[in-house]
Amino acid sequence: MELIKVTEQKEPHVALIELNRPKELNALNPQLMQEVRDALVALDKNDAVRVIIITGNEQAFAAGADIKQMADKSAIDMLLLDQFTTWDQIRKTKKPIIAAVSGFALGGGCEFVMTCDMVIASETAKFGQPEIKIGTIPGAGGTQRLTKAVGKAKAMELILTGRFLSAEEAHFYGLVNKVVPKEMYLHEAFTLAKEIAQLSPVAVQLAKEAINRSFETHLDEGLTLERKNFYLTFASADQKEGMKAFIEKRKPEFKGQ
Ligand code: HXC
Repeated sequence: MELIKVTEQKEPHVALIELNRPKELNALNPQLMQEVRDALVALDKNDAVRVIIITGNEQAFAAGADIKQMADKSAIDMLLLDQFTTWDQIRKTKKPIIAAVSGFALGGGCEFVMTCDMVIASETAKFGQPEIKIGTIPGAGGTQRLTKAVGKAKAMELILTGRFLSAEEAHFYGLVNKVVPKEMYLHEAFTLAKEIAQLSPVAVQLAKEAINRSFETHLDEGLTLERKNFYLTFASADQKEGMKAFIEKRKPEFKGQ
C-alpha cells in the first residue's frame, strides 16, 4: 500500500484507513482507490475487525478525483477506465464505515464520504461538489446521494454552483453525524466505532444492509445515468478547458461546447 495506510487494530476491533497523498490533498487517483478497495475487501474478511474508520489528514479528507490525471481523457477513455468498480466496494463493504473528515471533502472526496455509513467532522471540514467549475459533473454518486441527504433545492444549489458547505451547515442538512473541534474528530470517530464494536457484529451487519436497502432503492438507476452523463462531459470542450484552467491556475472560459 503506497497511497493509503492501514492499521488493522488501531483500537480493539476497529481498523483505520488513512488516505495518504498529502501533497495533492489526497486527490483520489485510480491507484489510491484500488488500494482502498483491496483494504476494504481484506478488512471485511478479517473477523477481528468490526468497524472501519476512513480518514485523510487535518488539511483534507480528499479534494476530489485527480484532475491532473483526468484532464486530457476522452469520454471513451473514462468509460474504459471503469474506475467505479473500485469505488463500488465502499458501498458493498458489510462492516460499518465511519468517515472522519477534516478540511476539504470535495468532488469525489465528498462522494466518498457520502458513501460511508456515518460521518464525524472537524469544525474545519468543507464539503462540496465543485465539478461544475471545471466543466464536469459528479460521477461517483454525488447527484444521487447529496440529493437524498440534503433535499432537491439545496443539492441543486450546491451542484449547479459548486459552493462549499461548512461543517455546521453539513450538520444542519444531515450530511454529518457530529461536528467537533479540530483536535477531536478522530477521537470522536473512535468513540462511535468502539460503541458499535461492542455490539453483535451479525446484528450490526444486518441492520446496515437493511438501512442501505431503504436508501438505495432506485439508487442503481440514478447512478447509471449519472455515470453516463459524467463520461459525456469528457466529450465537451468545456471539460477540457475547465480542467486545463485548474492545472494552469487561471479562470476557465466556458463556451458551451
Ligand atoms: C489533482 C489537486 C486536486 C485534485 C488539489 N490538487 N486538488 N490535484 N486533483 N482534485 C493539488 C493542486 O493542484 C496543488 O498542487 C495541491 O494539490 C494543493 O492545492 P492548492 O490548490 O494549491 O491548495 P489551495 O489553494 O489551498 O486550494 C485547495 C482547493 C483547491 C480549494 C481544494 O485545490 C481545489 O479547488 N481543488 C480542486 C477541487 C475540485 O474541483 N474537486 C473536484 C474534482 S473532479 P501543486 O502541484 O500546484 O502544488 C471530481 C470528479 C469525481 O472529483 C468523479 C468521480 C470519480
